[in-house]
Amino acid sequence: MSLRGQLLQLLADGRFYSGDELGRTLGISRSAVWKHIQFLQARQLDIYAVRGRGYRLAQPLDLLSRQLIIKNMDHEAVARLARLDVLTEVDSTNAFLMARARNGGVSGEVCVAEYQSAGRGRLGRAWVSPFARNVYLSLLWQFPCGAEALGGLGLAIGVSILRAIQALGGQAVRLKWPNDLVCEDRKLAGVLLEMNMDGTGGCNVVIGVGLNVRMPAPVSGLIDQPWTDLEQVLGRPLSRNQVVAGLLQHMLHDVAQFQAHGLQPFMDDWRRYDNLLGRPVSLSTLGESVSGIACGIDEQGALLLGHNGRTQRYLAGDVSVRVSV
Ligand code: BTN
Repeated sequence: MSLRGQLLQLLADGRFYSGDELGRTLGISRSAVWKHIQFLQARQLDIYAVRGRGYRLAQPLDLLSRQLIIKNMDHEAVARLARLDVLTEVDSTNAFLMARARNGGVSGEVCVAEYQSAGRGRLGRAWVSPFARNVYLSLLWQFPCGAEALGGLGLAIGVSILRAIQALGGQAVRLKWPNDLVCEDRKLAGVLLEMNMDGTGGCNVVIGVGLNVRMPAPVSGLIDQPWTDLEQVLGRPLSRNQVVAGLLQHMLHDVAQFQAHGLQPFMDDWRRYDNLLGRPVSLSTLGESVSGIACGIDEQGALLLGHNGRTQRYLAGDVSVRVSV
């Protein structure tokens, strides 16, 4: 584990630790401890520094733990898990697994991190990833087919995340095409798929999930759309390890289901929990904007937009709900 990971482990219980004590345990100087503390503070971790007493987290942290994640998964899911990397910091869990895919990674490899320095969102956006608050998770899966057969994968994963959240009691969460999860029109989670061809007609897909669990208030200014988090939605504190375990349990099952049967087993849930259905929306796609009434999705996962008595299908884009005046 990295030095900063060890420092976080020490501080996680929320008690005071002096710079001396931390430095001795970690084998570094007091000023090196102070530099690491400043680094963490700059990344939205609330750490008090009190002269004469030392450092303390404003609240204890439930750090990610490989053992706790696996302990909370059932046997079937654990059997599908090929590898689980739990990292303190990474540029992007998707980038980490894309690199694994190029270097012998196999289906069922998972990476979760406490912090991403360059978290990636859809359409080239950044994904705000404060320390030890949310879930940043990626899963590698190798499909024996080309990308053209995977058009509905992001939608299927959206349903899978929804099922995991429902199992925790989140009944008000909805799906927003193509693969966002929202609650009362506020974004709760997003999915980013990245892929490359494996040279034999198949492709490696990295499925990245960013799920807000306990978003700290100071980051709100960095996010350019209404958002919520799972603790607000459920109205209770959560263990991120349980949340990760629940996500993996559903995703590892559902990705295999998608490989065998495509989008079909997910269609009923998609239609039932479609947040856009029947609403006036604008879709930005390939530099233009089109408006219409959202009429659900077709069997390939394309968005259907009704306009002037005609229905058009769209395979990609960014949707916003139009507010009528
Ligand atoms: C979106 O724009 O809605 C998709 C966001 C996906 C974010 C996740 S966080 C884990 C994984 N690693 C990344 O760099 N991005 C995805």
